[in-house]
Parts: sequence; structure tokens; C-alpha cells
Amino acid sequence: MIAIASDHAGYTFKEKIKEILQQRGISFKDYGASSDERSDYPDFAHAASEAISQGECERGIFVCGTGIGVGIVANKHKGVRAAMCQIPEAARLARLHNNANVLTIGERLIGWDTAVEIITVFLDTEFEGGRHADRVEKIHSLTKK
Ligand code: RB5
Repeated sequence: MIAIASDHAGYTFKEKIKEILQQRGISFKDYGASSDERSDYPDFAHAASEAISQGECERGIFVCGTGIGVGIVANKHKGVRAAMCQIPEAARLARLHNNANVLTIGERLIGWDTAVEIITVFLDTEFEGGRHADRVEKIHSLTKK
């Protein structure tokens, strides 16, 4: 299950991402926003991140104007590793090395074709494990509350 979230600035991409997931037969839960009316990204990013933290969703794709705000919110949640990506190679490495479980993108910063490439790489790349697993484990074990 993929958690999907945006604010008004990421709403158009979010709706298109749902179409991609539907086409691929990947189940998802939409945590809002429900329109492109002005809204606050923490409202939706917190709810979607908590679903990942609680194990209700395995991964997330969050969109705001830049991908930064939703990413900051996501990384405050236990067990969430959010990566803001503007090129596919960043998404590939975020999966391979960081086992990123949330992808954040900025609708005001990248075009849709690039977004599709980034999302595809994020969904299709598995974590490499090995030495990276120890580092990823330390992200959480060394985090102070
Ligand atoms: C909304 O104007 C914008 O600030 C928001 O979508 C996001 O880019 C924040 O990080």
C-alpha cells in the first residue's frame, strides 16, 4: 500500500500519480489534499507519514510545490526515510543506498515527464542492503527524540 499526499501545489501531480498506480495495479491510500484550493502541506504529510510509521502503508509519494515541505514533515516520523528527488538517479540511489520509503517531488520544480521517470525508478528499485543496511539502521538507532 502506497500513501499519497500533497497540498494544493502538488495536487495535479498527485491525481496523475494515482492514475499511474492504478494502471500498475498498485494499491494506494490518498491522504489529501482533496482539491487545488489553498491548503497546508503538514496536514496531509503528517497523516500519510504516520500511516507509514505505523506500518499501514509500506511507502509513500508526497508532492508539494518544491517537495521540501512534505519531506521535512515526513522525516520527523519514526521509521520514515523521505528523499526529495529532482532527477531519476537520485531516486535510484535513495532506494539502493538509503532504503528511502517516501519519495517527495516538487510540482513547481520538475516537469511531469521527469516526475514519471522518478516515480518509476522509486517503485522499481530494491534496497541494496549489505553495508547500507548498517547505515540505515543507524539513522534510527542514533536519532535522539
Ligand atoms: C505552497 O505555496 C508551498 O510553499 C508548498 O507547496 C511547498 O513548496 C512547501 O515546501
